[in-house]
Amino acid sequence: LSDTQNRQMSSTEASNNSGVNGTEAASSRSLLRRIVDFLDEADWSFKKDKDRPIVKFISPDSLMSEYAEMLGLPDKPVPEDVLLDNLKTVYDLSVTSNHPRFYNQLFGRVHEESVVGSLLTDAINASIYTYEVAPVFTVMERLAMQQFLELFGFQNGEGVCTPGGSIGNMYAISLAKSAVFPDARRLGLAAMPPAKIYVSMESHYSMVKGASFMGFGENAVVKVATDEHGRMKVDALREHIKSDIENGQKPLMVVATAGTTVLGVYDPISEVANVCQEFNVWLHVDGCLGGSAILSESRRHLLDGCQRADSLTWNPHKMLGVNLQCSLLLTRHSGALQRAHGTQAAYLFQQDKFYPPQFDIGDKVIQCGRKVDVLKLWAVWRGLGKSGLGDLVDRKFTLAKQLANLIAQRQKTDGSFELIAEPESTNVLFWYIPPALRGQPADWSKRDDSWWRQMDAVAPLLKKRMTLDGSMLIGYQKCAASKNINCWRMVCSQDTNSEQDMERIVGEFCRFGEDISV
Ligand SMILES: *Cc1c(COP(=O)(O)O)cnc(C)c1O
Ligand SMILES: *[C@@H]1O[C@H](CO)[C@@H](O)[C@H](O)[C@H]1NC(C)=O
Repeated sequence: LSDTQNRQMSSTEASNNSGVNGTEAASSRSLLRRIVDFLDEADWSFKKDKDRPIVKFISPDSLMSEYAEMLGLPDKPVPEDVLLDNLKTVYDLSVTSNHPRFYNQLFGRVHEESVVGSLLTDAINASIYTYEVAPVFTVMERLAMQQFLELFGFQNGEGVCTPGGSIGNMYAISLAKSAVFPDARRLGLAAMPPAKIYVSMESHYSMVKGASFMGFGENAVVKVATDEHGRMKVDALREHIKSDIENGQKPLMVVATAGTTVLGVYDPISEVANVCQEFNVWLHVDGCLGGSAILSESRRHLLDGCQRADSLTWNPHKMLGVNLQCSLLLTRHSGALQRAHGTQAAYLFQQDKFYPPQFDIGDKVIQCGRKVDVLKLWAVWRGLGKSGLGDLVDRKFTLAKQLANLIAQRQKTDGSFELIAEPESTNVLFWYIPPALRGQPADWSKRDDSWWRQMDAVAPLLKKRMTLDGSMLIGYQKCAASKNINCWRMVCSQDTNSEQDMERIVGEFCRFGEDISV
């Protein structure tokens, strides 16, 4: 007996033994059908009940001991009914970004179109390297990239889906390397003068990881100072580049971040582009978070200048409600990906195929087998249209303004909150101040060290209460804008929220923090 037959038999036995009415009918349905029915009944998209807890927190120790059997990999197949139950348990124990009170990361609810696209992707199990095994997907990705290039204002170029924005940023480093030091492909980094990568203090950590991963070393990354809003200081960038060149270093690339991970602000891309032009340096725009503003008529100006970039990364899996993972890398240099990565594996990318070989897109990337990420994006885009997506981006930006206003009001009336920065996109940074710590002078330099220390301890304590209560999830961190004192980063990532939901958040902080003592 094959494993599947075995499992089916055990599953029949299980249903016969259980004698529960309807089980037989249920088990004549496929596992796939049954899990889809379950998700529907479980209200996976929170259409009916948005007040059920977002998390039922269990410590890692208890999770491992209470579910030891289920989490293990058995020798013998388990009956299908048991497997189905196991899957339901996994669902019940998970935190879903679909929850309307999930504000913990830079993404929120996934659109149904995306889940369906994902399902079909997995059912087909195509690898998007050659046209012969992925005819629709290779063409779909090419066409989507063409449209995205236009959207961001590139005249020429190409693009690919990458497994996440961090990897996309590493691709950008690779492209810059290939453009600046074509010989390094054969000879390695030893053949190059010491290279420098310029990012802002607020840039994403993947640039540092990328520099190290690709052999340039973390010290190759120059963190340029930011202004009081968290934007790269362009004069400081110019000074760094000038003095590095004088010292025999080679500027490899400059990264302008469009929507920084914590503050959500946009570097002045046009001004950064001017410096890149002046010194002939590769410009990469990290639009992983904020690139989605391109879809909004009223916000796309934040990305002015991005058409001058040599490369750009963007994560539809953040603001656009496409599920993980869906990221893309664009470059305005046609053929750059092949030049940087192509190796023409003879068994896969035969040049004498009977169809045009440029439809085999797999040699542009560093993966061999590559999962299709474009179908879910395509499904969402068709389902909502560009205008619908733009509206959702707008709505998230608007929620952030509304929350910031509510917090600023509280700051004035009872001092229970303090707004750290006016939001430029979806992220709102603030402190909740428990009653015992209120009434400080507005001037930060007039607050004493012990007050700052106490404030630093508030967020972790409150996060514990919030998580155990399960009423919402919001992240906190130390950052330059908060004097490296823990503060909240509320990501207005849920487009089904309204201003009332923002009011509720303010209320929840008071509920959790009222009697907090640090
Ligand atoms: C999230 C983010 C990334 C990384 O994207 P992943 O898909 O999580 O790897 C890179 N840059 C910025 C600015 C981001 O916010
Ligand atoms: C699914 O496709 C991937 C990529 O081509 C392949 O590695 C994998 O073996 C496939 N799975 C099955 C069960 O065929």
